[in-house]
Amino acid sequence: MSSAASSPPVCLADHDRRARAALDANAIAYLDSVAGDGITHRANREGWDALRLWPRVLGPLAGSHTRTTLAGRELAHPILLGPVAHQRLFHPDGELASAVAASAQQAGFILSTLSNTPLERVAAAVVADADRGPLWFQLYFQHDRSHTLELVRRAEAAGFEALVVTVDAPVNGVRDLERQAGFRLPPGLAAANLAAPAAAPEGLAALLARAPTWAEVEWLLSQTRLPVFLKGILHPADARQAIGCGVHGLVVSNHGGRTLDGLPATAAALPAVVGAVEGRVPVLVDGGIRRGTDVLKALALGASAVLIGRPLAVGLASAGAQGVAHVLRLLRDEFEAALALSGAATPAGTSSGLLFP
Ligand code: FNR
Repeated sequence: MSSAASSPPVCLADHDRRARAALDANAIAYLDSVAGDGITHRANREGWDALRLWPRVLGPLAGSHTRTTLAGRELAHPILLGPVAHQRLFHPDGELASAVAASAQQAGFILSTLSNTPLERVAAAVVADADRGPLWFQLYFQHDRSHTLELVRRAEAAGFEALVVTVDAPVNGVRDLERQAGFRLPPGLAAANLAAPAAAPEGLAALLARAPTWAEVEWLLSQTRLPVFLKGILHPADARQAIGCGVHGLVVSNHGGRTLDGLPATAAALPAVVGAVEGRVPVLVDGGIRRGTDVLKALALGASAVLIGRPLAVGLASAGAQGVAHVLRLLRDEFEAALALSGAATPAGTSSGLLFP
């Protein structure tokens, strides 16, 4: 083992190296698979890197903190664990470990529809924690409304506080690595929230014939009292349409570059969506957030909070619940330092003026 792998991790890249040493080829193929040539995936990191901070010095920093509000609730910091499917590929404790880690670090947690652990078990593990962050359920529309509604009712009953509907993946992305590696879920792992899939795989035409439309979003809003967020918005016209439907928030996302290739970086798409929303609902963002300075840049562009995807999987593989908690702790601490060093002091003190023109 190299000294870098044996000394304690001090940044997310250290956890990434440890994760790779711990995972088998099948899990790595799932983690690393990106759509097409990886243009979208690379753009996300490049998007944050291309933005430069423009700090102010000697302003008052006493009372500096990371607290913020999101959808009417106070958060200790604006970092949430995004929905990541099949987390038991990365650690036997899977979603239970990441939910507990989020709770310990007062981070929001968004459970994927494609969890390997039943949503009721995940919620039960953390719902009573007084200090935890928001507990949200990511919803993929199911093939018929009765199945979707069943998931929604289960999420409501279990104590989830919002639904995050992912709208950028009506079909799977074209991912070479998964196909080259012959990726499949190992025996014993399943999408635990869903009934067994239909025996015969369906053709694309059948899938597309039932792909959800805006009517499905309006229907969902009429069926639940939970706030509904849409995840996977890049276009300001879609942001306006979503608000017209009555959604409660948006996540600017390109699915971490795993669905359609050739998309803009989320950092590049965010300002137009924030502009279209005009403060009416919170706008969150994900894709390539790896440093506290990325969180600061996202807030400076008008995001209310950020989600992380791969760093969750990497933390799990690195050291289970402790690994995920440490990933969150590192990002929180880096973000806190960035707030002080930029002169913003608090999330409320961030603005586009923090970015070098
Ligand atoms: C995802 N993502 C995802 N999104 C979603 O809405 N439902 C899901 O089940 C999954 N599953 C999933 C699995 C894995 C292994 C990855 C890496 C990602 C996308 C995820 O929520 C998020 O949008 C991106 O991962 C954000 O980009 P970063 O932080 O991974 O760069």
